[in-house]
Amino acid sequence: MAIRNIVKDGDSILLKKCRPVEKFNEKLWVLLDDMAETMHAANGVGLAGPQVGLLRRVVVIDVGEGVIELINPKIVAYSGEQDGPEGCLSFPGEYGMVKRPNYVKVRAQDRNGKEFEIDGRELLARAFCHELDHLDGVVFTSRVSRMLGADEL
Ligand code: NI
Repeated sequence: MAIRNIVKDGDSILLKKCRPVEKFNEKLWVLLDDMAETMHAANGVGLAGPQVGLLRRVVVIDVGEGVIELINPKIVAYSGEQDGPEGCLSFPGEYGMVKRPNYVKVRAQDRNGKEFEIDGRELLARAFCHELDHLDGVVFTSRVSRMLGADEL
């Protein structure tokens, strides 16, 4: 495993749409392992393909309950609303208030290509939305209602 460089705000790759993953091979497994290690080393709760310079529909998430790997994920159901502070490893030190659904169901493939569904509430629902946005070139700052000052964190 290896820690990869995290792409920062200002790099146009963060604003591009990702292509689906088609090959579920060793190269993908190394990428997933590296992304999880990179996310943990940076104390993040999620990381998406473009953030390591790859325009592929790959996400890793860990809200403290273990690593969740999502390949070619889609939101298939959502409900409710939450409004809370959000940040991003590509925007170090920047936080803002973002409204998200309180419940989200995602359908995705695992590292072997097998389809599965997973439910998330609260922080996990927020992480699903934030990371899936990255796959369509959408960064959280475009959804912020109000940026937070350092004294509000
Ligand atoms: Ni992010």
